[in-house]
Amino acid sequence: MLGSEGITKICLMGLGRTGAEIARTVLEQPDMRLVAAICSDFSSKRGKDVGEILGIPETGAKVYGAGQLEEVLQEHAPDVIVDFSNARATMKYVRLISERRIGLVIGTTGFSDHDVVRLQLLAAKNDSGIL
Ligand SMILES: NC(=O)c1ccc[n+]([C@@H]2O[C@H](COP(=O)([O-])OP(=O)(O)OC[C@H]3O[C@@H](n4cnc5c(N)ncnc54)[C@H](OP(=O)(O)O)[C@@H]3O)[C@@H](O)[C@H]2O)c1
Repeated sequence: MLGSEGITKICLMGLGRTGAEIARTVLEQPDMRLVAAICSDFSSKRGKDVGEILGIPETGAKVYGAGQLEEVLQEHAPDVIVDFSNARATMKYVRLISERRIGLVIGTTGFSDHDVVRLQLLAAKNDSGIL
């Protein structure tokens, strides 16, 4: 999952309680770059810089609505998406992420057995990393 120049480009899906802590951690890593974050479509966070949400200086990473995922993938070409959103959102967007063969690290909980099978099938079909 290492990107070019030894820097792994990270997009966060979910910028709530946990996502915010993950964002802080990613921003501290010299070999990672936070390129974007995704929240729900009608969130007041949408369009802001992640730094504004975290109460830190501007980071250059913008917050997008979930419906803009395709645009985010095209514009920022993340190597990995780290997901701390909710199971419904994960299941809605996993196909797009897997088909693009972008690594997906799922921290979200609440998946049914059926969801887990679908995640496994998608990873196998697209030869993509879903953790
Ligand atoms: N694996 C672990 O160790 C671990 C630890 C902690 C939490 N978790 C899990 O992580 C998940 C998030 O927990 P949390 O406490 O951070 O919850 P939270 O504070 O409610 O944050 C959820 C985030 O998901 C976003 N979201 C909601 N609908 C979305 C959608 N359709 N597309 C994209 N993003 C969407 C929310 O957007 P808005 O900001 O717009 O509301 C919010 O940023 C839960 O499933 C929780 O169980 C796992």
